[in-house]
Amino acid sequence: MSLSAKSVVSFTLNGEPVEVMVSTGRYLVDVLREDLSMMGTKRSCDQGVCGTCSVLLNGRLVSSCLTLAVRAEGAEVTTIEGLGSLEEGLHPLQESFASHGATQCGYCTPGMIVSAVALLEENPDPSEEEIKHWLTGNLCRCTGYQKIIDAIRAVAEGRTEPGPEAEVEIVKAYEE
Ligand code: FES
Ligand code: FES
Repeated sequence: MSLSAKSVVSFTLNGEPVEVMVSTGRYLVDVLREDLSMMGTKRSCDQGVCGTCSVLLNGRLVSSCLTLAVRAEGAEVTTIEGLGSLEEGLHPLQESFASHGATQCGYCTPGMIVSAVALLEENPDPSEEEIKHWLTGNLCRCTGYQKIIDAIRAVAEGRTEPGPEAEVEIVKAYEE
């Protein structure tokens, strides 16, 4: 099949069934952003290095810039929008990133949080070293990482402190 051949891909996106016509060679990050308006999923390096495009595919962390959209057929895809929102309640990691100042420009934040969700699923009580090791696939040019690590540790330890103003900032960052 040529890369420009098209096929219909059906999958569950953040709990809702979706169906999109995609070229066989198209990547999931593009379909999420351009066809399905999931702008929280970012793209940057296009090489599986920066982690900004991280999503969960059947609960497994993947780089959507390296994942062909056709691989989502029949799968459950979770993006940052599916984890929580101001309207429906934030995920504890979203709250913790906001209250720890772990978001500055916000570009890396969705990928960081999706990655952290996968980490805590696999290891609910990671040490600081384990968090650092896990996040080697997520780059941040702003925070210096310590606040991100602190935010994840706080959730692992059951300490999260919602901060309404910070929450608004974090959600704004997703929408760009
Ligand atoms: S854009 Fe996918 S890892 Fe950088
Ligand atoms: S907060 Fe700016 S890149 Fe991480």
